[in-house]
Amino acid sequence: MQYFIQTFGCQMNMHDSRRMDEVLTRAGYTPAGAVSDASVVVLNTCSVREKAEHKLLSALGTLKSLKAVRPDAVLAVAGCVAQQEGEKLLKRAPHLDLVIGPDNIVELADLVRHIQRGGPPIARTVFDYDEPGFLRAFPSERKREVTSYVTVMKGCDERCSFCIVPYTRGKERYRTSDDILAEITQHVAGGVREVTLLGQTVNSWYEAGRDSRGTASQFSELLYRIAREVPKLTRLRYTSPHPRHVTDALIRAHSDLAVLPSHVHLPVQSGSNRVLRRMIRKYTREAYIERAHRLLSARRDMTLSTDIIVGFPGETDEDFEQTLSLVSEVGFVSAFAFKYSPRPYTPALKFGDDVPEAVKEERLATLFQHMELQQQRHLTSLVGSVQSVLVEAASRDGSSRFMGRNQCHDIVHIECAPNPDPIGQLLDVEITEAYKHSMRGIARGSTHAAPPLRMVRRLPLAV
Ligand code: 5AD
Repeated sequence: MQYFIQTFGCQMNMHDSRRMDEVLTRAGYTPAGAVSDASVVVLNTCSVREKAEHKLLSALGTLKSLKAVRPDAVLAVAGCVAQQEGEKLLKRAPHLDLVIGPDNIVELADLVRHIQRGGPPIARTVFDYDEPGFLRAFPSERKREVTSYVTVMKGCDERCSFCIVPYTRGKERYRTSDDILAEITQHVAGGVREVTLLGQTVNSWYEAGRDSRGTASQFSELLYRIAREVPKLTRLRYTSPHPRHVTDALIRAHSDLAVLPSHVHLPVQSGSNRVLRRMIRKYTREAYIERAHRLLSARRDMTLSTDIIVGFPGETDEDFEQTLSLVSEVGFVSAFAFKYSPRPYTPALKFGDDVPEAVKEERLATLFQHMELQQQRHLTSLVGSVQSVLVEAASRDGSSRFMGRNQCHDIVHIECAPNPDPIGQLLDVEITEAYKHSMRGIARGSTHAAPPLRMVRRLPLAV
């Protein structure tokens, strides 16, 4: 029997879809090439911004037509909208069979079978607080995977006033370092070269059972331990850190560990102290800039990217100017920018949504212009340099080029001839041209193995 999963939204969701893949294939289902061939269809949803819900509604409409021609197909909604709406979704969309929350993925195949045996529709959205489960996503045997994601924590204890995540993903739960290490080791043995540690506030990770969170530097200790115990790992990324957990120890790890890339994605959301306070971000503009500058000086080629919300309730032109000035003061090389979207249950609802749509649009466009200039400046500055590029895949444009990323996580399109199969290799690439959002280059010299672990300091004891 075949299944089809459609994923909306973030990396966390893509990773969850992988785990659903595994749960279903282990139970004997096989992936379908198209939704029309599938007997089980899962929409894995995101509710961080309103747009994602709109997409869900239109997908539900499409599924309704599918159900009309294939009444035996099992239709499921998973992810944050499932968690948020629960049974209400079943009432709203009577053609739905299953609503399943992120913590219940492990039960997916059993629930599907229950429906296939004629059981009634089910909403299963229970947080696993008592026994948090962290399903592993194994590297695919079908396609070669150079990069993979490993969850280190889930949920979120922050209460940013705009954000629905604490309500859809629950409170923070942390995985043990032994478990994390075991999964990374397994990925690397399966051919993975770059691992990204995942968590809603990934750097608040700590080892459950250790007496206190202390200075919250346990996350950096985890990075040292991974570097030490998985020496074959080429790159170790993490996303997304919260600025208030960027400790001195974490900054130091970036100087110490060659396996960390020269790039951090550090969401700032706004450059105005007034807005940051109303967002409950728990840092000031000055504190953010100070930490950003220290991160930037941890490495010669370090770059930062960020997330920004424009049009948060009460945001004035002056507040927005503050955001623009922070963007240039920090010198981000890229940013994800979003128009504020009121979300159910969130504290910011009480402020109303008072910035007119046209003003939000204008601010977003201005911000994008600024960011494009900064990205362009950064990419152009690399023309003529030799970058260490991890090759991820063949280019999608049908050319003989390959696509990879340099240490700063910038995309590089590479001419690799005469190397017929460079996927998974770390190549020295001379950058010949900068495009708007990527670069082009020619592979030079021979490939080299994972960079040596450059340890300039004594390592902390094992976590
Ligand atoms: N409106 C707009 N953007 C939001 N984000 C989170 N919640 C909202 C919202 N209500 C953005 C933040 C966050 C990213 C994942 O999504 O910038 O970092």
